[in-house]
Amino acid sequence: MEVVILPGGRQIASVAADAIQALLKRKADAVLGLATGSSPLPIYDELVQRYEQGLLDFSRVQGFLLDEYVGLEPGHPESYREVIRRDFTGRVNFAPENVHGPDGSASDIPAACRAYEDAIRDGGGVDLQLLGLGTDGHIGFNEPGSSLASRTRIKTLIEQTRRDNARFFHGLADVPHHVLTQGLGTILESRHAILVATGAQKAQAVHDLVEGPLAAVCPASVLQLHPHASILIDEAAASSLKLADYYRHSYDHKPAWQEL
Ligand code: GLP
Repeated sequence: MEVVILPGGRQIASVAADAIQALLKRKADAVLGLATGSSPLPIYDELVQRYEQGLLDFSRVQGFLLDEYVGLEPGHPESYREVIRRDFTGRVNFAPENVHGPDGSASDIPAACRAYEDAIRDGGGVDLQLLGLGTDGHIGFNEPGSSLASRTRIKTLIEQTRRDNARFFHGLADVPHHVLTQGLGTILESRHAILVATGAQKAQAVHDLVEGPLAAVCPASVLQLHPHASILIDEAAASSLKLADYYRHSYDHKPAWQEL
């Protein structure tokens, strides 16, 4: 696990976009794992800018969403399918049929979850997975207590997560209670995971993920088992880390040939 402490969202976006650009250079048909939430937004803005400058081509890229609400009608503006189209894929030359997500409106939810796992596998697996971090330590929508080996399945949201996400809806009452999410075992199979977190409200979760024990109570701590995980955070999100100076020192002295 590499922890990179940067001054702010813009620098984080630039480092993450560099990693995506390097991946697409060596693999034009790469598979990206796409996260929603506000944390990845500066990364998507940076990718859009580089696309407009002719530096990036998404025409052969596949995208797999991490998660989706259950019960929103298809096309609902807050369904993650719509959110990712607005925030990212619809602003670059991503083919709409190359953007996949778990089907939260399916009548047979377990079958939809199995189909999503199959689609990820048939697509060749995720090359680079972007991740945000919930204030309770969730990644995707894997709330505390999620099995560290879990696959795509239905989960019930914790009230804090519903409150955190109420700003995107008309009010708390409109936030669904149920979601579909890639499991922690699914996320662990991505070849490179980049988690982004900014702000003091994420400091405790960042501490638990990086320096706490591997434990289902902090689902993001599963990244301690990931062979290639990059944790990109700002100073505020890093404020509870015991070894912050070591992480800064390591990044400052990183061999020039070594990518993220
Ligand atoms: C939601 C998403 C997560 C995201 C989290 C944090 O719960 N399902 O994937 O990481 O929000 O969101 P934000 O980045 O807005 O703090």
